[in-house]
Amino acid sequence: MIEQTPVNQAAAVKAPTSPDTQTVTQVQHWTDSLFSFRVTRPASLRFRSGEFVMIGLMGDPDPKTGKQKHLLRAYSIASPAWDDELEFYSIKVEDGPLTSRLQHIQPGDQIILRPKPVGTLVHDALLPGKRLWFFATGTGFAPFASLLREPQTYEDYDKIVITHTCRDVAELDYGSRLIGTLKQDEMMQELLGKDALDKIRYYPTTTREQSPKMGRITTLLEDGTLFNDLGIDGMKADTDRAMICGSLGLNTDLKRILEGFGLEEGANSDPKHFVVEKAFVG
Ligand code: A2P
Repeated sequence: MIEQTPVNQAAAVKAPTSPDTQTVTQVQHWTDSLFSFRVTRPASLRFRSGEFVMIGLMGDPDPKTGKQKHLLRAYSIASPAWDDELEFYSIKVEDGPLTSRLQHIQPGDQIILRPKPVGTLVHDALLPGKRLWFFATGTGFAPFASLLREPQTYEDYDKIVITHTCRDVAELDYGSRLIGTLKQDEMMQELLGKDALDKIRYYPTTTREQSPKMGRITTLLEDGTLFNDLGIDGMKADTDRAMICGSLGLNTDLKRILEGFGLEEGANSDPKHFVVEKAFVG
C-alpha cells in the first residue's frame, strides 16, 4: 500500500518561519509502520551523504510554565548531498513521543531541523577499496538511500552490494523502488556516469514473511549463502569496505562477523575497513 501526498503549490511556496524550521514538501506512506517525507533544505546546510541530523516537532506545552520544548530525534538524511531538498525515512511508533505525531505531517507543515550534520557512515571514514557493502535492516536503509545517489560511491568503488533485511516484504518497498527508479533515471545516469548504476547488486531478504530470499543477513553471511548467491569468494581487508546500519543487535553481530573476516572498524578520524551506525527509532 503506497499512499502519496503530492507537493501542492501552497506547500512549495510557504516560507519557513524560523531558522530551525523547514517546510514539508512531500509525504509518502509505505506501510502502516513506515513513511518517508521531504522537506525544504536550509541554504546554509552542508552535509556529507550518509550523515544524520536532529529533526522533530514542538512538544506539548509544560502544564506549569506553558513553555514548549523541542521533541527531537536523530534521523539519517536519506537524500544525497547534492539534492535541493532533504528526505527522511521513518518508522511510525504508535506510542512513540515523536513518530506518533510526525507520521501525520502533511505538505505545508513545518518541522524543526537542527542543521548540524554528523555521522560515521561517510566515505571519509573508509580506506580506499574495490567493493563496498551496505548492510541495512529496517529504516537502516536511509543513509544508503543517500549514498546510493552519491556520485563518489561509484567513483571510489567497482562494485556496490546493498543488502536490506526486513521482517515483511512490504517493508522492502522504499528501498527496492528507490533502486529501481535510480537505475532507470536518465538524470542519475548522466550525473553518475553511464555504467555506474550497473555496479549495484541489490540483495533483499525477509525474516518472517515468505519471499524469494529469506533469512537474517548475519546467518546468510556466516553460512556462505550470500557469497554463493553473489558469486563472490568472501570479504577481505585489502578489497572490501562495509557500512552497517541497523538495530543494536544487528550491528554488534555483524561487527563480530566482519572482524572475523579480518576487517577493522574505522572512524572519521581513523579510516579503516568498515563503519557502523545505529538506525535511530523515535
Ligand atoms: P528477525 O525477524 O529474525 O528478528 P526489527 O524490525 O526488529 O528492527 O528487525 C528488522 C530486521 O532485522 C528483521 O528482519 C530482523 O530479523 C533483523 N534482525 C534483528 N536483529 C538482528 C540481529 N541481531 N542479527 C541479524 N538480523 C537481525
